[in-house]
Amino acid sequence: MNVHSHGCAYRAAILYCVGDPHEMGPQACCYHEDGILWVEDGYIKAVGPAETILNQLPQRIPLETFAHHLILPGFVDTHIHYPQTEMIAAYGEQLLSWLNTYTFPTELQFADASHASKVANVFLDELLRNGTTTALVFGTVHPQSVDAFFQAAQQRGLRMIAGKVMMDRHAPDALCDNAEQSYHDSKVLIERWHGVDRLQYAVTPRFAPTSTPQQLEKAGQLLQEYPGVYLHTHLSENTNEVAWVQALFPEAANYLDVYDRAGLLSRRSVFAHGIHLCDAECARLAATGSAIAHCPTSNLFLGSGLFPLDRLQQHGVTVGLGTDVGGGTSFSMLRTLDEAYKIQQLRGHTLDPFQALYLATLGGARALDLDHSIGSLQAGFEADFSILDLHATPLMAFRMPHCRTLQETLFVLNTLGDDRCVERTYALGRCVHQKETP
Ligand code: GUN
Ligand code: ZN
Repeated sequence: MNVHSHGCAYRAAILYCVGDPHEMGPQACCYHEDGILWVEDGYIKAVGPAETILNQLPQRIPLETFAHHLILPGFVDTHIHYPQTEMIAAYGEQLLSWLNTYTFPTELQFADASHASKVANVFLDELLRNGTTTALVFGTVHPQSVDAFFQAAQQRGLRMIAGKVMMDRHAPDALCDNAEQSYHDSKVLIERWHGVDRLQYAVTPRFAPTSTPQQLEKAGQLLQEYPGVYLHTHLSENTNEVAWVQALFPEAANYLDVYDRAGLLSRRSVFAHGIHLCDAECARLAATGSAIAHCPTSNLFLGSGLFPLDRLQQHGVTVGLGTDVGGGTSFSMLRTLDEAYKIQQLRGHTLDPFQALYLATLGGARALDLDHSIGSLQAGFEADFSILDLHATPLMAFRMPHCRTLQETLFVLNTLGDDRCVERTYALGRCVHQKETP
């Protein structure tokens, strides 16, 4: 892959959000049926209808045209565990026994840096094959797991956020650090990686049950000392987990309050799940600008519950979408949107396809406080995007011509699409995935 000193232009249908459809209605989405995306030096130079852009495009810029394809911003996955790639689809358990039976044994292997590096590369290949260009990623307790991940992401020029798990109780000894060690190890990683190229660090206590109050305080201290660093953890996923947290932290008013007391709530805080929250927790998330990562395939697979999306939206909470692999069952944000729709159906609500697109792109970027750089295709944004084949499968090729509106086309893509649709993925203007032609 060569240096992107020359521009490139791509002609296809183009769709992206400039705001939240829930707040702005149809104006939140821009669509060019015959559009051109012009990229220069890794950034978006211009986007618009072909007839307009063709007049501005210098002769030197190569133009590639894609029939029955759709260009979208790269997907933003706001919650995923790279070390769990090899145990995706583990049978028969709900959250707490799933952790003990499958997750902890798998994560033990990441003491070995070469194992970590191998899995990190498989993981990133998989994200890019699915059109995901940015993710907020759990490592394991081992600092070397995060070094391996960031090295692999750096080599590919990706915008990624990750962190070492902080965990000092209720897990196998070999997977536990302690408050002081976790503080020190995280600090070293922050200084090594945060803000290097497109990489950023997230302070990552696993969840309240596996951290002592002392460790959560250390996490808060890191956030104080390093403004701009993220906080990434789990919240209110499973009812047994919620009850356990209340028993472990009797002084806390609710689950979120455990994190709040340690100073862990801010615009750069992302809490995965948030299924069983009370009104006070929703209000506090909104007031602090904290985000929830909604993880539909995981919530269904682990039998955790049905996410009340409308309730969180009414409270004004920022919501992004996550795959939560390996609790989640797919790397594909399209598969994830399919399940998100069904969850809302079971709650008697619908998820509009434009709102769904927003959650997978600009909404995720907002959850990560990166919505001025990624998640959309506006001039000046980083050129992270994918080119999707709307006729990728025989069924899609048969179904798509029957769509009469963009909404319908997008809904069919969200419902039937998967990695087979992802023709190419670009990061900072460079092609980082190209589908093999059979
Ligand atoms: N809660 C604590 N750890 C985990 C994890 O690894 N996956 C999920 N889904 N929930 C968790
Ligand atoms: Zn998770």
